[in-house]
Amino acid sequence: AIEGDRVLREPICCILGHVDAGKTKLLDCIRHTNVQKGEAGGITQQIAATYIPVDYIKERAKPCEGVIIKVPGLLVIDTPGHESFSNMRSRGMSLCDVAVVVVDIMHGLEKQTVESLALLKDHNVRFIVVLNKVDRLCGWKHCPDAPIKKALENQSGNVKREFEWRLSKVVTQLKENGFNTALYYDNHKFQKVFDIVPTSALSGEGIPDLLLMLLLRSQATMMEKLTFVNSVECTVLEVNDDKDLGTTIDVVLINGLLHKGDQVNVCTKQGPVVTTIQDLLTPHPLKELRVKGIYKHHKELKAAQGVKIVARGLKYAIPGTSLIVVKPGDDLGQSEAKRQMN
Ligand code: GTP
Ligand code: NA
Ligand code: MG
Repeated sequence: AIEGDRVLREPICCILGHVDAGKTKLLDCIRHTNVQKGEAGGITQQIAATYIPVDYIKERAKPCEGVIIKVPGLLVIDTPGHESFSNMRSRGMSLCDVAVVVVDIMHGLEKQTVESLALLKDHNVRFIVVLNKVDRLCGWKHCPDAPIKKALENQSGNVKREFEWRLSKVVTQLKENGFNTALYYDNHKFQKVFDIVPTSALSGEGIPDLLLMLLLRSQATMMEKLTFVNSVECTVLEVNDDKDLGTTIDVVLINGLLHKGDQVNVCTKQGPVVTTIQDLLTPHPLKELRVKGIYKHHKELKAAQGVKIVARGLKYAIPGTSLIVVKPGDDLGQSEAKRQMN
């Protein structure tokens, strides 16, 4: 994507919220996958990235004529809502550009919702509130994959009243946590007021709206941050033992280019390790990085991407640290790696 003389990268979006608010289901609905069903106890225990191409979003969201999309897609990161995984939530939050806070409309704000909101404020990350599970409103008529305004217009007076009542409760709770919010299509001050998008992850109402708003708000508020640069910014998400590949690391390439054969410096529990990238793998678009499947091999990868790196010496790599590309003639990235280890 080129905007003037800028090349834009994909916004990185972190999905946050209380356990069982529907974060993974929402992603399943977007991707047409079934990841949630395969999770032990229906609980996410890892952090994982999915690439969503812009053409797919255009297909799902059908933007009105005249709406110009400038970013080339979206990199979405699912996080666990269970209280014991706060480290993964902050890892996701520290590398994302924008967040989605998923709230169960029947429950309102819960403990980890409030925790996430506080962290977002600390990190100064903009977010969209998703008010999920609207299909659980008593008497909801399903309108699969419909824009939410249309779906709401189709409901009975009782459903509309229950919706308004639950929405206003959540708006009040968010206000108590220091955030002004409004239904996104009534929000005319989006620089100051945060958007609410009602959705159902089961029948897909509101999903087109969410995808489109993520792109439009990102490009309207963070052009500078989304500008592609050559220098690599890359964070380790997970370390994995793979039967065929050996120890690999899953990383998020936030900016810049990575190449097969690049020398990189990785922080490990045994100190900085300099190693050579033997292979760069990605899942296919709309597939999650952590779900073992068929990977694509790359000679070169451009941010933003979730990437599996094959290299020697990764066994004790530390999630959450930066991977540094070593340039010929520099100090092997040692000083930066040492700084991170302290
Ligand atoms: P953790 O990752 O464990 O924090 O949970 P989560 O936020 O990812 O929630 P998950 O996707 O696991 O969904 C929890 C439960 O809510 C599952 O049984 C889903 O089927 C259900 N669920 C999610 N979204 C919706 C929705 O929009 N409507 C209804 N009726 N059920 C939903
Ligand atoms: Na769950
Ligand atoms: Mg989940």
